[in-house]
Amino acid sequence: MADWSRDEFDDLYASVGHDLDQVPWARLAPNATLVDWLDRRTIMPGSRALVVACGLGDDAEELAGRGCAVTAFDLSATAIGWCHRRFPASSVTYQTADLLRLPPEWARRYDLVVEINTIQSLPLELRDEAVRAIAGTIAEGGALFVRCFGRAPDEPADSRPWPVSRAELAVFEQEGLREAEFAEDFPEPNRHRCFRLTYERIF
Ligand SMILES: C[S@@+](CC[C@H](N)C(=O)[O-])C[C@H]1O[C@@H](n2cnc3c(N)ncnc32)[C@H](O)[C@@H]1O
Repeated sequence: MADWSRDEFDDLYASVGHDLDQVPWARLAPNATLVDWLDRRTIMPGSRALVVACGLGDDAEELAGRGCAVTAFDLSATAIGWCHRRFPASSVTYQTADLLRLPPEWARRYDLVVEINTIQSLPLELRDEAVRAIAGTIAEGGALFVRCFGRAPDEPADSRPWPVSRAELAVFEQEGLREAEFAEDFPEPNRHRCFRLTYERIF
């Protein structure tokens, strides 16, 4: 397996102390592509939403602000501690959990699931399992938003973060989801392309 350990994310969050800007992916604001996607959708108040690997919590708060009943989880207890500290009055249920060992009661529970930049953080050997785990949380008629670094079929994934291929994402369709939207963009010159996808559960 590629160079990877389960503790490394928590170690990284812990290593920055209070200087959250030092977390490489931290924006301390909701993801702009998620905000744009949400602006184009009708969100029913009380929709059950799940934020996968929520990091410091900004995307979860965005969903809560739009009336969703949000659960947000991350493997890192330090990151979840920051969510509680940053948003003490939040309605979001934040909890430490491992995507690869989700609570069984989350199966097919959520109307809206948000996955941003987690799959690419996992080595290729764990992708299939991770994609199936995310898919397993989506209720019938529910939707999934995915944002990730992408790679072309002939492109190697030889450095971190390991960009995600369309073939790896196609596992969502094996799990009963339909790809409803796909877009790619190049937000930063000389960096990876980014994929943005929407899936809907059809069975
Ligand atoms: C690149 S960060 C993205 C965080 C957040 N989604 C964002 O966009 O800011 C990857 C996150 O995945 C979390 N993570 C890694 N492996 C995980 C797992 N097996 N289960 C849950 N979270 C995991 C890390 O702790 C980290 O917060």
